[in-house]
Amino acid sequence: MLSAKLSPTVTDMIRFDHSHVLLTFHQYTLDKSPKVRKALADTICNALEIHATLEEEIFYPAIRLLNGEEPVIQKSVPEHDEMRSIIAELRMTDPKEVRHQELVMELMRDVIHHVADEETVLLAEAERMMDKSRLRELGTQMTKRRMQLVAPKAGRIAADTIVGFSGSTVAMVAGVATAICAVRHFTKAKHAAHVH
Ligand SMILES: [Fe+2]
Ligand SMILES: [Fe+2]
Repeated sequence: MLSAKLSPTVTDMIRFDHSHVLLTFHQYTLDKSPKVRKALADTICNALEIHATLEEEIFYPAIRLLNGEEPVIQKSVPEHDEMRSIIAELRMTDPKEVRHQELVMELMRDVIHHVADEETVLLAEAERMMDKSRLRELGTQMTKRRMQLVAPKAGRIAADTIVGFSGSTVAMVAGVATAICAVRHFTKAKHAAHVH
């Protein structure tokens, strides 16, 4: 089921996560109800936390082996920590307050900047210096770890996605796909202990 030969590469997985979170940010507009904006913010917070952990545990160590002096890798974890502090405040903020929108915009600005550095420097470097089988092997590791991280929150992630993307026709397709993915991850995670 998780054969490294069939796994997407780690770099494609990272790109997919980036696209998903940016798509979610783009749904956050003031014409949405506070309930929908809260669900979107929760979707963003959970997705970023899981993504940051996966990069720190699997992708960044592999990049450091190639070139630990790279300035982008050196600032990556501090930037994740800055996002984590915005996430912590965002979770405690009422979506009816102006501060909620300010925090989402602050987080989006940080994420766009961080993602630009990762995609144009780290992913490019990884694909230049690692062969496809290594990139797929890291992709497999990332999938296994993602299942463990998603499992405890799978129901919540699916529910937030459905509320957050309600009323959005184009994004709903991606949103529903994500919800289905989360449920699948949850189901698969029950068997994760048997996956080696
Ligand atoms: Fe990152
Ligand atoms: Fe990333």
